[in-house]
Amino acid sequence: MKHLISLKEQTKEDLLEILDLAKKVKATYKAGETMEPLKNKTLLMLFQKSSTRTRLSFEAGITELGGHAIFLDSRATQFSLTDFGDEIKAVMRFGDILMFRAMKAADVEKAAGFNQIPVIDGCSEKYHPCQALGDILTMSEHANGLENVKKITWLGIENNVSNTLTLAGAKLGIEVTIAAPEANPASVDAELNAQASAVGKVTRTLNLAEALAGANFIHTDTWMDMEFFSDGKVKPQFEAEYERRKRVFTPFQLNAGLINTHAPQAKIMHCMPCHVGYEISRDAIDHPNSIIFDQAENRKHIQKAIILWLLGIPSPL
Ligand code: CP
Repeated sequence: MKHLISLKEQTKEDLLEILDLAKKVKATYKAGETMEPLKNKTLLMLFQKSSTRTRLSFEAGITELGGHAIFLDSRATQFSLTDFGDEIKAVMRFGDILMFRAMKAADVEKAAGFNQIPVIDGCSEKYHPCQALGDILTMSEHANGLENVKKITWLGIENNVSNTLTLAGAKLGIEVTIAAPEANPASVDAELNAQASAVGKVTRTLNLAEALAGANFIHTDTWMDMEFFSDGKVKPQFEAEYERRKRVFTPFQLNAGLINTHAPQAKIMHCMPCHVGYEISRDAIDHPNSIIFDQAENRKHIQKAIILWLLGIPSPL
């Protein structure tokens, strides 16, 4: 049984197959044609954390394929009362595929280990495979083909999103340069980093000019923890860490000045939600090179392909 968790298990050919399927599924949808390859199929969506894009894109996507989604907010379930393994095994009896936004990747892996139905990591502390593949789809569209995506630069903090994007890029032959003064400790996966470095060209540098030179795409994500804030103000207990992070990460902010100076050709990317004024500026979000809303939309198209691929329905068209 196939699962989509960290992308460590997927080959280059697997990734290309999913991307190709996504292009076809998107073209069919844009042409206004309907299809129902997942009629009477149920997608289970279990969320232990909040979401805008992941919930919307999975729910809209399964509907467009003729299937149905069930949204489970873990706070409204019995998970807190019992053993996780027992409860997730029961949950998986009610659907054909599970998308799990989990606090811990280990729990996604545990669910997948039961091999009852395919399991998708819908963003854990270590991985965000749907974001990575959606982002590669977006890059391929804006570069007029995957073969023209030569270099991705990641700015800010190394995290779950950078992990899976780096590994996907490395497997697909795209150079990935990371300009990040720190990694989120919870996100670190040494095995993933070793695999990415073994199969592709992954560089780490704090020299921004070097990192941005020749980049086709520049991507960032939050490095400020939103729990630090209350009513728009920093909570007193987080003031020191807030100031430390601002000092360390602000030089790596994705803004129009940086793009215009070092990489005027590069497209601006962010997985959203954006924390304006921290990892990205308003003038970068609104910059002519910004493609962040295309990224958001492509979550739906790539996830339709991921679901079809995991369920072994590769050619519904
Ligand atoms: N990028 C992303 O996963 O967005 P959400 O957290 O809104 O789902």
